Amino acid sequence: MIKEKILVIGACGQIGVELTLELRRIYGGAQVVASDLREENELLKGTGPYVSLDVMNKEMLHVQVIRQNITQIYLLAAILSATGEKNPNLAWHLNMQSLLNVLEIAKEENIHKVYWPSSIAVFGPTSPKKNCPQQTIIEPITVYGISKYAGEFWCNYYNHRYNLDVRSLRYPGLISYKSQPGGGTTDYAVEIFYDAFEQKKYKCFLKENTYLPMMYMPDAIRATIELMEADAKNISVRTSYNISGMSFSPKEIGDEIKKHIPDFKIIYEPDYRQTIAESWPQSIDDSVAKKDWKWKPHFDLSLMTTEMLENIQ
Ligand code: NAD
Ligand code: SER
Repeated sequence: MIKEKILVIGACGQIGVELTLELRRIYGGAQVVASDLREENELLKGTGPYVSLDVMNKEMLHVQVIRQNITQIYLLAAILSATGEKNPNLAWHLNMQSLLNVLEIAKEENIHKVYWPSSIAVFGPTSPKKNCPQQTIIEPITVYGISKYAGEFWCNYYNHRYNLDVRSLRYPGLISYKSQPGGGTTDYAVEIFYDAFEQKKYKCFLKENTYLPMMYMPDAIRATIELMEADAKNISVRTSYNISGMSFSPKEIGDEIKKHIPDFKIIYEPDYRQTIAESWPQSIDDSVAKKDWKWKPHFDLSLMTTEMLENIQ
């Protein structure tokens, strides 16, 4: 059996910290190299190797892949939807070039597997709002969504043309407490817990009835690892898989928090992120992921809210 050596790029972000810790638990600390532009996250310190790395520097990336004998790459560096609208050129450049650098090096160095996340942001106003299917009309209106949709086809291309084993998930908005979210439209569903706990009130940047697909981080980490460990013959989608956890509006999550903090209050002051949120589906059909690699979410709104409040405390 070949011992896998994994490089996580963007390991200090919202997903990266938890994914790195889980990969280290499974494969052993020394087998998972964490890397990021930022300083090493406190939670990662002492759990395995860390290298400072700019994924845009292809030569540096190539050197690290060879020096560390890397066999799998997880690419998490990106600019998310809300931040992307403030600097569209930068978002396009980082989101595309980072992926092309990784795919090209993976091809040259015979990397066994690459993971790269897409997003529900690929969908646009013309996609179905409810139970949005795997294959449908896809016309994204954010630069982030455009970059993710283009990226999905680069993954598909490298798989078909070079037989590179690239796998991908279209994550919904992710909710977690270990590391902060990095500038997405769904970030309200994380901020609300901190403000509810600390101030008993929250000013929401989306309207109260804006439904979005969401997922609690433990489900997202499990989905990622289950996809990466699935037998290649069961992977029928080489663009990116729809996955679904839960769907709720700001009012519904506010009501759920009130069950734990009865005097919690929420007010609504929608900003530019409302247009982004309204362009996305409200819920996702993940039947292809369920059929191909037996995906099943565990957390619903109620269980996630209870866990978030317990852990924030
Ligand atoms: P994040 O912004 O929290 O983390 C990204 C990390 O990448 C940061 O630590 C950042 O310092 C690092 N980074 C940025 N530029 C870099 C560079 N040039 N070189 C190396 N590192 C760099 O993002 P996240 O929420 O953890 O998202 C990770 C991936 O998952 C992204 O591709 C994102 O689009 C996708 N995704 C996230 C969500 C979500 O809700 N968090 C939903 C859908 C998809
Ligand atoms: N959570 C992400 C965002 O809002 C979705 O990809 O940008």
